[in-house]
Amino acid sequence: LSIVVLISGTGSNLRALLEASADAEYPARVIAVGADREAPGLSHAEGFGVPTFLVPYSSYESREAWGEALLEQVRVWNPDLVVLSGLMRLLPPGVVDALSPHLINTHPAYLPEFPGAHGVRDAIRAGVDQSGASIIVVDNGVDQGPIIVQERVAVLPGDTEHDLHERIKPVERRLLVQTVLDIANGLDLGALSTRPLPASIK
Ligand code: GRF
Repeated sequence: LSIVVLISGTGSNLRALLEASADAEYPARVIAVGADREAPGLSHAEGFGVPTFLVPYSSYESREAWGEALLEQVRVWNPDLVVLSGLMRLLPPGVVDALSPHLINTHPAYLPEFPGAHGVRDAIRAGVDQSGASIIVVDNGVDQGPIIVQERVAVLPGDTEHDLHERIKPVERRLLVQTVLDIANGLDLGALSTRPLPASIK
């Protein structure tokens, strides 16, 4: 199974996939890594000799123009699966529709709890005693797609956002590596994915 991973940040989830991918027994290969900015995580790909590409969000006039450029880059690699792993941008509907259902995302909360860009912060602010990690099929909603797998993570008294995120990330990494393995072994994302929402419905 060939994978393109898209990131914006440190790429710790990406690194876990690269490490798994380097194992000849693991039936999936990260063939390229893309980012919407000069993400530190791109260095992990370089370390593993995996090609990278950059589609800087700031270089484009609109989300749609950026999305089209990103899609064009992804298509160069023609992957079986695209993994969003800390990509901090919403993909425009045209991109989601073009890639669906072979498009998954990892989110540091127990969806549908705490969707969006600040799931960890929101869990801390809500004062809950447990949050989680979720892997979903991306659709045109924000973190609303079908849940492939998720697992609870405890929130401890006095946890900062960083503390909780660092406790969630190892769980995310394990779920992501396992989910990609399941997909390589035949998990049918099409059976899971909902019909992408019409672009008009947000
Ligand atoms: C991950 O927790 C991911 O779910 C969230 O941002 C974090 C990215 O971490 N969207 P990293 O870049 O993989 O270290």
